Amino acid sequence: MKIRVENPQDYLNIAEVNTLAFGRENEANLITEIRNSKFYIPELSLVAEIDNIIVAHIMFSYIHLIEEERLRVLSLAPVAVIPEFQKQGIGSALIRNGLEKADAMGEALVIVLGYPLLYNRFGFVPSTIHNIQSPFDVPEDVFMVKVFKNFQSKYYGEVVYPPAFLRV
Ligand SMILES: CC(C)(COP(=O)(O)OP(=O)(O)OC[C@H]1O[C@@H](n2cnc3c(N)ncnc32)[C@H](O)[C@@H]1OP(=O)(O)O)[C@@H](O)C(=O)NCCC(=O)NCCS
Repeated sequence: MKIRVENPQDYLNIAEVNTLAFGRENEANLITEIRNSKFYIPELSLVAEIDNIIVAHIMFSYIHLIEEERLRVLSLAPVAVIPEFQKQGIGSALIRNGLEKADAMGEALVIVLGYPLLYNRFGFVPSTIHNIQSPFDVPEDVFMVKVFKNFQSKYYGEVVYPPAFLRV
């Protein structure tokens, strides 16, 4: 398996991977909206290939934390593996690779809304531990944060997503 940064020739395949994984087009549409926005981070949108076929995709993009200051942080969403290739460690490999890159880029933290059993193993904890609040009405354990080496105590408050996320 090879993990690499996405490029425009991959866009249709990435949409297909997401539509198959989620069984709907919302996430593929979200990816397009993020790419067309200032929140897009090209080097943190990654694909996993097997025999030159894209089987999985992950995207990190910018969101904000608002309290006394407006601080830029990362969102991890979406991540998708084609159903036939799930439960083989591909999703975990993509997540781990993306987290390492984000840390190396000097980001402070990343937020995810997802399965605690999956994300706990990468060091994600409920966001409330860091006094970070979800804008969504979801159980505390599914709204998680992972802090990087550049994390500082000023990073807390309410998470604000771009409007595209609210349409998913
Ligand atoms: C979630 C997803 C990205 C994980 O990728 P993957 O390659 O299947 O995951 P891995 O093989 O690396 O790890 C599997 C782990 O994922 C977790 N997981 C996957 N799907 C899950 C589900 N529906 N509910 C709960 N946990 C799940 C489990 O903790 C599992 O661990 P286990 O093997 O010890 O049981 C993939 O299954 C997928 O694309 N699912 C559909 C799309 C989706 O829900 N994406 C959002 C995730 S927040």
